[in-house]
Amino acid sequence: MTKFTAIPATVAMCIASTAYAADLEVTHWWTSGGEAAAVAEFANAFNATGHNWVDGAIAGSGGTARPIIVSRIIGGDPMHATQLNHGRQAEELIEAGLMLDLTDIAEAQGWKDIVNPPGLLESCTQDGKIYCVPVNIHSWQWIWLSNEAYKKAGVDVPSNWDEFVAAAPALQEKDILPLVVGQQGWQTNGAFGVIQVAVGGADLWSEININKSVEAAAGPEMAKVFAAADTARQMSANSNVSDWNLATAKVINGEAGGQIMGDWAQGEFAVAGKIAGEDYTCLPGLGVNEVISTGGDAFYFPKVDDPEITAAQKELASIMISKEAQVAFNLKKGSLPVRGDIDLSAANACMQKGLEILAAGGVLPSGDQVLSSDTTGQIEDLFVEFWSDLSMTPEDAQARYADIIASAD
Ligand code: GAL
Repeated sequence: MTKFTAIPATVAMCIASTAYAADLEVTHWWTSGGEAAAVAEFANAFNATGHNWVDGAIAGSGGTARPIIVSRIIGGDPMHATQLNHGRQAEELIEAGLMLDLTDIAEAQGWKDIVNPPGLLESCTQDGKIYCVPVNIHSWQWIWLSNEAYKKAGVDVPSNWDEFVAAAPALQEKDILPLVVGQQGWQTNGAFGVIQVAVGGADLWSEININKSVEAAAGPEMAKVFAAADTARQMSANSNVSDWNLATAKVINGEAGGQIMGDWAQGEFAVAGKIAGEDYTCLPGLGVNEVISTGGDAFYFPKVDDPEITAAQKELASIMISKEAQVAFNLKKGSLPVRGDIDLSAANACMQKGLEILAAGGVLPSGDQVLSSDTTGQIEDLFVEFWSDLSMTPEDAQARYADIIASAD
């Protein structure tokens, strides 16, 4: 495993003042260009203390990394810190007593007063104790449009979902893929969730995902959502791409008109030197229902029986929520910070839109915060099949979806 950076001479002096230089193995799945640039900000900040960030990047999506992370912790070979999505992904590890309680530093540093919206910290809290440090807000509720693709097709850049659908034939005329979707369950499920909010509305989303209403899942409003998802899968039929960032690259290069994806896609546009509003357009809530979903990432710290490692783990958690690290990391990651008391004037036009929606309270929890990993997995499997097997009708898919919601937890 590699360290991100040699410790500059100026920092070398502080090593002498660091009682113990800990090597902490940190696992995450941030391996795309934008993700790697962002996580380097955390690594460099930690290395500057005299400790060592030993990078444990796991290639692939969260769906690949999470089973590896969980099995290492359960199997007695834990890393010292790991990314997970804040929400319910660690609840069984916490119940098994395997995770470090961070309540003492959270209270000492006033996380309850710092973290906004409060739901982020609630998603790190179990049985009244805090087990993770939230590090960003990543919202799925976006579509990213290539201004170049629409110019090439001779049509205006869409300002909402209906205009996006109407512009599809003009793009296809120019052999441009209207919508690109990476063929992985978390991506097709993510895209469906965004369509659900845009076409069905935030209340319908909550009625189903929070209240687990089977009636709503099987009802006529959701039938409209499945019809829109059918249109989406038709428009993305020739995506021929798996990894999310390779799908984003098609929008960056003008080979696809749009991608429904979380705002981590911004990191890819940034690394490619693309300017929000000039090279690409972002539509929160598909330009229909402008909301931000408070998904995102947090770091959890498996318990180890070594007080110096434990102290270094708490030091890393404290750095990750610090003002400096929050600005440096989130500007590179394309995500929103977890604290409202920092200067993000450097944020681009899309992030500013997200901050405005957040400030106006247009907030929904993410699926990770309200559905168990098991229920999420079942829904992901359904949408892999729906996107790949066009013989499955929207009606069939909706019936299966309602069955999953009937046993959702
Ligand atoms: C999400 C994570 C984001 C980004 C994305 C794609 O689960 O919250 O930070 O990494 O996966 O890899």
